[in-house]
Amino acid sequence: MIDPTPFFGLQLVPVVAILIWLVYSYLVKKRASPTASKPVASEKDAGLELPPDPTPLENLTPEKLKGYDDRPWRPFRWPYHQTMSIFKLDMNHWLDMDKWYERYVNEKMDIIRKTGKEYCDSLPDGDDAVEELLETVVNHLIMRYPKLFVKTHIGLDNLVTGEKMDLRKPFKEPPLHYLARLTKEDFYIVKKREDGRHYLVAAVVPAPGGFFGVQNKMGQHLDVIHHEVPYYEEKLKVSMERWFARMKPADPVERASWFICWDHELLCNGIYALGPGETVPDDTSYLKYNVRVCRQTLRRLPKSQAIIFSNHPIFYSIEEMKDEPFVPSMLKKVVLEGPEKILKYKGFEKCDQHLIPYLDRLIQRQIDLGIIQADDPVRTRPSYPFADWYDPNEKHTGNGYANPFYKKAQEEPEKMH
Ligand code: HEM
Repeated sequence: MIDPTPFFGLQLVPVVAILIWLVYSYLVKKRASPTASKPVASEKDAGLELPPDPTPLENLTPEKLKGYDDRPWRPFRWPYHQTMSIFKLDMNHWLDMDKWYERYVNEKMDIIRKTGKEYCDSLPDGDDAVEELLETVVNHLIMRYPKLFVKTHIGLDNLVTGEKMDLRKPFKEPPLHYLARLTKEDFYIVKKREDGRHYLVAAVVPAPGGFFGVQNKMGQHLDVIHHEVPYYEEKLKVSMERWFARMKPADPVERASWFICWDHELLCNGIYALGPGETVPDDTSYLKYNVRVCRQTLRRLPKSQAIIFSNHPIFYSIEEMKDEPFVPSMLKKVVLEGPEKILKYKGFEKCDQHLIPYLDRLIQRQIDLGIIQADDPVRTRPSYPFADWYDPNEKHTGNGYANPFYKKAQEEPEKMH
């Protein structure tokens, strides 16, 4: 009889070799990229798990960016109550780009140059978080937009603005300035102190929309910062603190708020520049009316454990949304019937008398075109917080989110005013 031992031994050699190779490559991969494998639950509990890396948008070139639109936010709700209204953030959208990028970064730097520390300041205990944020932003931009931002031996090349950014230490200018020049975002940096509450330790916020400077907010905790916010004490405070206490680096979220304006200023829109009792000038063209969406994200950084609150405006003209079902009806409903304190905070009383005849006209147009029925109830759309036509898969094409209704709306502008 033939002895089977050497035979089976020989058969096992390749199997064992493959097993060793599999274990080895798993270990190497895990070491090279902490996000490449699913971390065990305890990593998440300890706040070590990171959100996933973004997918590269390979075909978004500087040329293509000139016609690239951001996502179509429509954060209109009815019934309208003050709530946290946060959504899980897809990291591909942490630092969105669009055709206005260059205008935004230039205008933000102009504001910072003119206003000094009014909209850009930090405290010493925010320094580590500012540096960590800068590093995180640079890595994200290089990964997500490889044709727009390229890593170099001194820092990065911004292929949109042409800047060769020198990020070697010691920094040649305040790191908050680099952040303002790299993204469309305003950034607030918040840290937990010994009393368990969250305090503002740094901010670069030249695009607040309403002169909301940071000097009276620096070093203050979130209750003080939100002092003016309607229904904060009753509806937001407890859930926000509870949520901040549990928030992990792997759980970024986004939200959006909005108000109405008739210009595209980043620092302060006309509606907030008007004095008490003043209203929008009567001869303002309806075509100038915009919804200013303040698109916000929240994430925690793993090293400093700071919370980063980002915010950038996107302007959508009411004209471009006029044939989207219920948009004019929803705007009218909120402007006339929204919670009193919110209406006041958003300054609606400065334009409602002027705006309502225009909205009525657009509502009638939607009824005439069969887009809505006269007796349809006005309520939050299933596509909230985005337009009905929003396609979430667009994030991988690099073509952007051009409004299919916009060209048509431009061809048929409302004639009043
Ligand atoms: C889940 C977290 C948060 C929620 C739900 C929230 C909610 C709000 C709301 C409802 C407003 C009124 C404007 C609007 O309608 O959006 C507001 C304003 C504001 N929030 Fe927050 N917020 C959050 C986190 C933060 C953080 C982390 C900061 C960082 C400092 C911050 C800074 C501000 C500032 C500066 C204003 C303008 C306040 C003013 O009127 O001067 N928020 N927030």
